[in-house]
Amino acid sequence: MTASAAQPRELTRTEPSAGTLSFPEGFLWGAATSAYQIEGATSADGRGVSIWDTFCRVPGKVRGADTGDVATDHYHRWREDVALMRRLGLRSYRFSVAWPRIQPHGQGAVNQAGLDFYRRLVDELLDAGIVPFLTLFHWDLPQSLQDAGGWPARDTAYRFADYARIVFEALGDRVPYWTTLNEPWCAAFLGYGQGVHAPGIVDEQQSVTAAHHLLLAHGLAVEAMRGAGGSGARIGIVLDPQPMSISSTPEALEAARRADGMHNRFFLHPIFKGEYPDDVLADLAGHLDLSHIQADDLRTIAAPIDVLGVNYYRRLSVGTGPPVHPTTSMGWEVDASGLFDLLLHIHQTYGPIPMLITENGAAYDDNVGPEGGVHDPERTAYLEQHVRAAWQVVQAGIDLRGYFVWSLLDNFEWAEGYGRRFGLVYVDYATQQRIPKDSARWYQRVIAQNGLVMPPSEPNGQ
Ligand code: FCB
Repeated sequence: MTASAAQPRELTRTEPSAGTLSFPEGFLWGAATSAYQIEGATSADGRGVSIWDTFCRVPGKVRGADTGDVATDHYHRWREDVALMRRLGLRSYRFSVAWPRIQPHGQGAVNQAGLDFYRRLVDELLDAGIVPFLTLFHWDLPQSLQDAGGWPARDTAYRFADYARIVFEALGDRVPYWTTLNEPWCAAFLGYGQGVHAPGIVDEQQSVTAAHHLLLAHGLAVEAMRGAGGSGARIGIVLDPQPMSISSTPEALEAARRADGMHNRFFLHPIFKGEYPDDVLADLAGHLDLSHIQADDLRTIAAPIDVLGVNYYRRLSVGTGPPVHPTTSMGWEVDASGLFDLLLHIHQTYGPIPMLITENGAAYDDNVGPEGGVHDPERTAYLEQHVRAAWQVVQAGIDLRGYFVWSLLDNFEWAEGYGRRFGLVYVDYATQQRIPKDSARWYQRVIAQNGLVMPPSEPNGQ
C-alpha cells in the first residue's frame, strides 16, 4: 500500500446525538486475551519454557514476584471460558498461540499435544458461533531461541516463519483472522531496550536489531502462510501506534518527532511503504550499527496484508505536564478522542486498509461487593467513550471492521502481575471463579444492539 487513496466520505468527527449509534452489520464485537496471561499450565503436555517463565523468576522484575504458572488456568478451563463468551454474546475472540507449546524449543518437531489444545479451542469457538481471531506471537518467545540470541539474532525470524506455517497448516482452514505479532514495539523496546519486559535486556543496539528482525519475521510469516495456500484467511499484524499530545516548545516537538519515529513510523512505514523513515535512520545511524538491515528485507516486510489490528489505550504525551483527564489504575490518561485521531491518521497516511481495534480497555481496582457483584462504572464509562469514538471512525468512512475489549478476563498483566485488573470478567485467583463485572453486562447489551443507545439529552441542552 502506498499513499492514501480515494476518501470515501467526509473525514470529520460526527458528534453523536440521542438514539442508537449503530455499527455496520457483521461488525466484529469481541474480547482479547493472550496465552501467557491466561493459560497457566506452563509445564503441561510438553510445553517448553518461554522467556516470560524465566523473567518472572528474576527477583524484582514482576510486581509481587507473580508468575504465569497458573494465571487464570484457562488451559484447563477453556470450555467454561468459551461458554462464558457465548453468554456474553461475543462475535469474536482474539487469543494467542504459545509458541513453546507448539515447538518447545522454538524449532524442530511439532508437539502435537500443544497444537491439539488450540484445535479444540477453535472448534469449540466455531461451535459457539464465535469467530476465532488468532495471534501467533504475543511475547512468549521459546527460551531456547533466546539462549541462541533471541530477536537480535536474524535466525529467530526464520524460525518464526516455520512456526507460523505449522500453525497455519493445522488451523488455516478454520480460523479466518491471522495476525503475526502483537505489538512488536513492546517486544523489542521494552524487552531488549528498557529491560522491563522479558528477556530484560538493556541495550539499544539489541533493541533496534530486535525490532527489525520482528518486522522481518512478520514479513516472512506472511509469505509462509500465503505459500501454504488454500485458505481465504485474512492475514495481518497487531501494532500499538500512539497518537501524540505535544506541547509546542521546540524541545517537545523534537522529542515528539523522535518518539513518533521510534514508536509509530518505525513499524508502519516498513509495512505499508517498504522503507524506514529517513529521519529515524539518520538518528540511529549516528550511534548504532545498522548492518542487520539486509537488501530485500524491506520488500519482505512490506508483503501486502489484509487487515491491520490497532491496540489503543491512551495518547503519548510529550512535554504536556500532569494529566488533564482522569487516569486508570495503570496511571494511563483516559482520552477517547485519541482513538479517532489515530485511525484517521493511519487511514490518511497509509491508505485505506481494513482495520480492527484489537485491544482497548482499562484497569481499575475492582472488588467483589457483599452481594457478589463487581461494580465497575469507570470501566463501563471508559469503554462507552471508546465505542463512541469507534462509531465516529465508522461514520467518517474509515474501514473499521471490529472492536475487541482488552480483556475477557482479569489476568497476568506482565511486569504488573495480577494487581492490575483489565477484565470484563473478574477472576478470583484463589478459587478461579469467574464473575462477570457490570461492564460485561453493559457490553453484552452493546453487542445485542449492535451499537450504543444514547440517552436523550436534557431539553435545555445540558
Ligand atoms: C497491551 C498488551 C496486552 C495487555 C495490555 C494492557 O500492550 O498487548 O497484553 O498487557 O497492553
